[in-house]
Amino acid sequence: MRVAVLKERRSGETRVAATPETVKKYVGLGLEVAVESGAGLASGIIDAAYAEAGATIAADAAGALAGAGIVLVVRAPEAELPRGALLIGTLGADAAAAAAYAAAGVDACSMELLPRITRAQSMDVLSSQANLAGYRAVIEGAGAYDKGFPMMMTAAGTVPAANVFIMGAGVAGLQAIATARRLGGRVSATDVRPAAKEEIKSLGATFVGYEDEESKAAQTAGGYAKQLSAEFYAKQAEVVAAHIAKQDVVVCTALVQGRKAPTLVTEAMVASMKPGSVIVDIAADAGGNCAATKPGELVVTANGVKILGFTNWPGRLPAASSALYARNLLTFLTTFWDKEAKAPKLPEEDDIVKGVALTRCGAVVHPLMKPAA
Ligand code: NAI
Repeated sequence: MRVAVLKERRSGETRVAATPETVKKYVGLGLEVAVESGAGLASGIIDAAYAEAGATIAADAAGALAGAGIVLVVRAPEAELPRGALLIGTLGADAAAAAAYAAAGVDACSMELLPRITRAQSMDVLSSQANLAGYRAVIEGAGAYDKGFPMMMTAAGTVPAANVFIMGAGVAGLQAIATARRLGGRVSATDVRPAAKEEIKSLGATFVGYEDEESKAAQTAGGYAKQLSAEFYAKQAEVVAAHIAKQDVVVCTALVQGRKAPTLVTEAMVASMKPGSVIVDIAADAGGNCAATKPGELVVTANGVKILGFTNWPGRLPAASSALYARNLLTFLTTFWDKEAKAPKLPEEDDIVKGVALTRCGAVVHPLMKPAA
């Protein structure tokens, strides 16, 4: 069976779905791997490295796809796929896209829909990518901040430590806390899920936030934050507003699954910050946590606050994010591997498969992707 690895075509997408390390493993499983020329370049992987790992290099997408039974991508591909192929990526599909995969006879699996269960951890692309995004956000925030993070006592005087506030302490936020602490910042963080408070403290940051009866039940069974009431958000905003005015760097990571990111930093809060302060909004892809964020752009406000609203944060450290993403896909395939057939076998009743499978044998099977009755 042939595996095709495509070059990503979405603007700003620097990652790739396989690395020489995973190609070698696929070849070891008895697969033939075809990599589209240039697929790894933006992640620092040249064609020769794939070839050395055992892949053939195809001049274009059509060449890589010819006869492929498995297609690995980061984002939804634009090319026409062979009928019967298993497509694996973070497809960001809606019902219409799922219907198109079904009509094209493609079995599509969208890895961002993976259930957050222990057994799925090693194939969890959301976690692997969010972790790196959280790290990178702090590094970019430190780069944009025109003072240092650590307190520096010098003969010429003392430079105070930066006050760094992390909003949302999920996978990205916890990594952001750890990174900001390592850089020497004075770190505080907020979240609405009760479990997050202990995690924030265990990383040595101060918890800042509003808690009430509603927030005690702010977590869904899947571990995500729930959408809370307008009254709760207003109370949370009161607590946050007083704190944000004193911060040098704010890193926003808060998401509510399936919705626009909650607005946690209002225009008034931005106006209250000191000139030279930085807001890094990793939630920009989902609309942003800061009201003044412009997705994809760096904004400098009238009062001198820089807002970094870049999208695709994992793509800002592509070699690391491709390495982890590629391993996540490899783990998924090897977990559902039929040794004798030397091909993947996705059991319909498996929770992980049920979570990610959009289509199967020409039909849409994912409950979220079925057209409304
Ligand atoms: P996420 O990316 O959906 O959201 C990021 C954070 O924003 C969350 O911690 C959420 O509580 C927080 N948030 C939402 N609204 C907020 C508000 N108004 N103010 C402040 N913070 C707000 O979450 P992520 O990082 O994907 O993690 C979700 C959960 O899944 C966590 O409980 C995590 O521990 C769990 N998880 C479990 C895994 C497993 O068992 N396989 C793997 C990864 C995560």
